[in-house]
Amino acid sequence: MKTLRQYIKEAKDKSVAIGHFNISNLEGLHGIYNAAKKLDLPVIIGVSEGEETFVGLEEVVALVQTIRERDNYPIFLNADHHSSFERVKACIDAGFDMVIIDGAHLPYEENVSITKKCVEYAREVSKNTGRDILIEAELGYIGSGSNIKESIPEGAGVLTKPEEAKKFVEHTGIDLLAPSVGSIHGLIKSGKPHINAELVKEISHTVGIPLVLHGGSGLRDEDFTNAISAGVSIVHINSEIRLAFKQAVEKFISENPNEITPAKILQPALNAIAQVVETRLKLFNKIS
Ligand code: G3H
Ligand code: ZN
Repeated sequence: MKTLRQYIKEAKDKSVAIGHFNISNLEGLHGIYNAAKKLDLPVIIGVSEGEETFVGLEEVVALVQTIRERDNYPIFLNADHHSSFERVKACIDAGFDMVIIDGAHLPYEENVSITKKCVEYAREVSKNTGRDILIEAELGYIGSGSNIKESIPEGAGVLTKPEEAKKFVEHTGIDLLAPSVGSIHGLIKSGKPHINAELVKEISHTVGIPLVLHGGSGLRDEDFTNAISAGVSIVHINSEIRLAFKQAVEKFISENPNEITPAKILQPALNAIAQVVETRLKLFNKIS
């Protein structure tokens, strides 16, 4: 099977993007996998620190690897927005394919220093094991939390400067960059700002490594397609999945108050997640 790095390069060459979707449970994993498999597309499963703690570090690795090996399918696992070297190391040691060290809230020099440490560790483990572990880092603040927000949080939306991004990539040696280009984590009730596709293009040319778009939930279709044409190779979606899960469970329970079988209660939630993922993957891959 091709490596994740190769799939990302292929996506970049074809001007499409790989979908990255977060999970908190098995229903999420199955829903995402069902949609990706239906379209025969590679997919990245993400877990934030909280999601990872809930599912279990070794458990989530085993779940994703089981599908990958059993079905010979390009499904990969990412440690999403991890904040310390210790947690990054634990994920690398456990078998994750990719890790995001998120030092975006730190002063620039500290962000460089923690990111560099993670890159060095990933390189060492890759060399010793033959794996190819990818490291992503974030520059510029796009808010935190895949939740429903009344409005854009204070301090979020500070756009990444191309020259600073270039310096950051050179200083750290990361494989992928998550810049701040207009999106905000979460579903914003008062609307989401536009993606600045010109800025994406400029950063993409300046840094020369693949870009990752975070905070995808709630963006307009043209924001995704413009960002992907401008150089984004991975798109992250989480809040839309969480909302689909919650609404499907609420609907089922209100319509079937006497049903207590978890598999029956959760099947519509799994299907709702698959629907969100299928729609987004079609858009990211120019499938009509
Ligand atoms: O890393 C996770 C994502 O960037 C998710 O953002 O909740 O706005 O879809 P979202
Ligand atoms: Zn994110």
